Amino acid sequence: MSAQTAPDAVVILISGRGSNMRALIEHSLAADSPYRVSGVLADRPAGGLEVARDFGISTQILAPHTTDRAAYERELAAAVGALSPALVALAGFMRVLSAPFVQAFEGRIMNIHPSLLPRYAGLHTHRRVLAAHDAEHGATVHFVTETLDAGPAILQSRVAVMPGDSEAELAARVLETEHRMYFRAVRWFCEHRLTCAGGRAWFDGRALSAPLQLADVGK
Ligand code: GRF
Repeated sequence: MSAQTAPDAVVILISGRGSNMRALIEHSLAADSPYRVSGVLADRPAGGLEVARDFGISTQILAPHTTDRAAYERELAAAVGALSPALVALAGFMRVLSAPFVQAFEGRIMNIHPSLLPRYAGLHTHRRVLAAHDAEHGATVHFVTETLDAGPAILQSRVAVMPGDSEAELAARVLETEHRMYFRAVRWFCEHRLTCAGGRAWFDGRALSAPLQLADVGK
């Protein structure tokens, strides 16, 4: 970002405690941040909304009031679009988004998922990793497409699964890496180093054949 350029607006969607949202907000406060969080929306009275308000960020609850999923997604897209985001960041948003929303922000939606995608799309990832006796687990930041947890992967963190790990212990170890990871992808996007085109993630002008690794880019 040059001194003359205003930071890009990022809108965050949450459903829960919002610890990833908090990390994104905290990193946006850096003097050299290329993004600012212009709003946080939730589909329910999520705990993270109060955290966002404490940072002075406008919040909104848009709960589904109809079984017409497409109608809800169009309303959500309109509410998000009113905040003119360069990027929409899903951070524990517990709804599967489909065409009406995804097409409105094509190539401009990111998500963070607590597994080494493509392994363990969907719910209960930590439990499934323990049940499979995997030696390694982690998290993935990816672009969102209309297929659940299957959009182009951008960045992954990896943690060892320790003997005797409980689901909560493993989840906490992964979450700590999520907080050090998501903002990097958001920054890259807003610095125009990262884009989504032709079904791929592009970083510094090259299509990623595999996600970047936090261990390689993190300090
Ligand atoms: C995180 O594990 C994230 O990977 C997943 O949902 C959880 C959200 O946690 N998408 P928090 O609300 O950010 O604390």
